[in-house]
Formats: sequence, C-alpha cells, structure tokens
Amino acid sequence: MSDPAHRRRIRESYRRWARLYDWFARATTDVGGVRAACVDALELDPGDTVVEFGCGPGPNLPALREAVGPSGRVVGVDVTDRMLDRARRLVARRGWANVSLVQADAATPPIESADAVLSTFVTSLFPDPEVVVREWCGLADTVVLASFAPRGNRLANATLWAFTRLSTELFDASGTDALAQLDRRTAAARSGLEASMKQVESETYVFGTITVSAGYR
Ligand SMILES: C[S@@+](CC[C@H](N)C(=O)[O-])C[C@H]1O[C@@H](n2cnc3c(N)ncnc32)[C@H](O)[C@@H]1O
Repeated sequence: MSDPAHRRRIRESYRRWARLYDWFARATTDVGGVRAACVDALELDPGDTVVEFGCGPGPNLPALREAVGPSGRVVGVDVTDRMLDRARRLVARRGWANVSLVQADAATPPIESADAVLSTFVTSLFPDPEVVVREWCGLADTVVLASFAPRGNRLANATLWAFTRLSTELFDASGTDALAQLDRRTAAARSGLEASMKQVESETYVFGTITVSAGYR
C-alpha cells in the first residue's frame, strides 16, 4: 500500500475494533466452512511454510498450525499492532514455537518465499488489490484469498451492503456504490491470481457473500 494516509486510516480503525473483532472472529470461525475451505485449498503438507497476510487476531492460525505441524512454519503479517497483540496472546497460550508474527504492510511483503500464502477478508481494503496479489503470487506456488462479494440473493446482498456502509472508511466506499466497489476489488484480486497463476479456482460461500479463490502455479 503506497499511501501512508490510507494505511494510517486502516490501522486506526482496526486498533479501535481489535478486541471486538477478535471476539467476533472466534465466535464465527466455523460459519459457512469458509476458513476450513481456505486451509484445504492451500494443500499444505507437514513441514511447509505458510504466510498469512492481514492475519488480524489470528482466527486462521490454529488450522494453519495444525496443517503444517510442529516441523512447519506459520508467519502472520498484519499492519495493526493491537490485532497482532491479540494474535501473540493466542500463540503464547498455545505454546507454539513455530508461529511468528510480524508487523508490516502486506503490500510490501517482508517475506522472500513460502510454500503458500493465505489472506482472508483483506484484499478489499487495498486500493489496487490486483497489484498486491500479483506481488504475493511471486512469493509462493499457492495463493488463497477469501473476500466479500455481492454474489448472493437480494437479502444476502442487502446484508453485505449494510456492512459496507457501516465500514465505508475501510473500503473507501463513501460517496460510491459500496457493493460495486467491493465487487470491483474482489474481481481485481482474482485478476491478480489469473495474471500470475496457471490455474485459478473460485467458490462462493455464505449465501454468495464470500468468494474463495485459489491460485496454483
Ligand atoms: C477484516 S480483518 C481480517 C483478519 C483475518 N484475516 C480474518 O480473516 O479474520 C483485516 C485485517 O487486515 C489487516 N490489514 C489491513 N491492511 C493491511 C496491510 N496493508 N498490511 C497488513 N495488514 C493489513 C488489518 O489490520 C486487519 O487485521
């Protein structure tokens, strides 16, 4: 993310919401099977290294750690210190020695390579998701993304619309059609996968409001 003001806005917002987000993410970890589908799509083996961009308080970390086992490595990257504080507490509670957390901008990754990259509910926050996703594809042979998209029925789309209106500052959606903005960014993230990977697969979840796309080199 090149714009420091945008990065600051994102960070300030997630700082305010870190505690509530942590609770919400834990309470909904299994909803719709989205997170499990993402981890399946990563096709991790024991001993692999997986990087999660925008890991937040760590709702995906338990499943990632389980998939790579004690000999693998999990790296969580997030720009918001308070989100990482919560993820650190989780890692300490579980006593995981092979999970590291790094505060950094995922748009300029502090990582050279990995077996796989995951990012859930983050790409819609980037002004230009395609550029960022292309960058991630240069790091690993498998990249899996979960993003919001208005691909459901009217009620599902209306719920998503209400959610985006409540978070316009995150999605840069004030003064624009919030759903169209979300749709554009999710499509741009997929374009990043398509431009860089040989095979791209997408599935929708939770009444069509969440799209999981997996790119394989
Ligand atoms: C909606 S939360 C998603 C957290 C987690 N991935 C999940 O699935 O619940 C978005 C997270 O992305 C982080 N984030 C936003 N922009 C980022 C950036 N440029 N670099 C790293 N992290 C970023 C935020 O701090 C926040 O923790």
